[in-house]
Amino acid sequence: NKGHYEHYMQKEIHEQPESLTTTMRGRLIRRGSSKSKSVLLGGLKDHLKTIRRSRRIVFIGCGTSYNAALAARPILEELSGIPVSMEIASDLLDRQGPIYREDTAVFVSQSGETADTLLALQYALENGALCVGITNTVGSAIARKTHCGIHINAGAEIGVASTKAYTSQIVVMAMLALAIGGDTISNQARREAIVDGLYDLPNKVREVLKLDQEMKDLAQLLIAEQSLLVFGRSYNYATALEGALKVKEVALMHSEGILAGEMKHGPLALVDENLPIVVIATRDACFSKQQSVIQQLHARKGRLIVMCSKGDATSVCPGESCRSIEVPQVEDCLQPVINVVPLQLLAYHLTVLRGFNVDQPRNLAKSTVIK
Ligand code: BG6
Repeated sequence: NKGHYEHYMQKEIHEQPESLTTTMRGRLIRRGSSKSKSVLLGGLKDHLKTIRRSRRIVFIGCGTSYNAALAARPILEELSGIPVSMEIASDLLDRQGPIYREDTAVFVSQSGETADTLLALQYALENGALCVGITNTVGSAIARKTHCGIHINAGAEIGVASTKAYTSQIVVMAMLALAIGGDTISNQARREAIVDGLYDLPNKVREVLKLDQEMKDLAQLLIAEQSLLVFGRSYNYATALEGALKVKEVALMHSEGILAGEMKHGPLALVDENLPIVVIATRDACFSKQQSVIQQLHARKGRLIVMCSKGDATSVCPGESCRSIEVPQVEDCLQPVINVVPLQLLAYHLTVLRGFNVDQPRNLAKSTVIK
């Protein structure tokens, strides 16, 4: 049921304040200011000690689910101190990459049925790793075959392009990071800030959804373009990949997410006065590096659309022609949840304006199951 929305993708984008609330329900603990703030993940509690002892955590997924894991990687590394590596399921299988008994392998999948992810799970089980599932589908193959896991609880997602599952996956993995990190004194302030940030996140998403009309106007401007680049780094490298994936899969426009730190090693050659470029430059430890990226793109007459924190537009935009997207600032590791929303809206409006099928993009399926 689409309610008053025209498309499922539109409905699912707009219901993110509610889906995020459901994802966090009963899992955040905040017992008054003197007691510590933390998380409770029932499906993991018997395995946390083993996970903390593991030599490595490996995230495995495809498409949007892989991007969600990538967004959560920095906070997991920070809070756990355990090396985190990333694997696209098909690539792990192609290489028969090393997976060890001392590894914790985390399988991320909205449907819980994706063929490549499921095959990678079988492979990791054979290699003796502890296997954790993060899925949105209770009773799915990945939920059943993993040793333990966390349900995303975002509610059914019908649109082929994943939106609300993505933001809920990031939140689940941020909670996973808090759970693995435990209640160490050294992490206390950071942990409390993240828990507070999680509580407030649905409100902040509600705020960023107000950019709907602005994103429709931007889509109108980009409707006839051949290509769109999205530059991001650190927490928001994943946002760049995911924003570009959305534009590619539903609006059928070539789009590439680019790690801003790699700009000089190739992508800069593409920059001219015609190609639109979104640069994600919200406040975090890499803000000044992104300011320098903007300057360099501007010096080459790049057609810039800068995503920045509220109040930063005038200082971050280098010239008259530069457009800005101002978003609310949240705890840095949660910022990807906010920043992806305008890009989801942009992809949605671009698709509708270009006259393509939003909910069932050409050649794609919601889930690629083993036949
Ligand atoms: C693709 C879908 O087939 O599978 C993507 O079109 C999705 O939207 C990807 O991100 C992974 O799916 P899942 O269910 O494993 O998260």
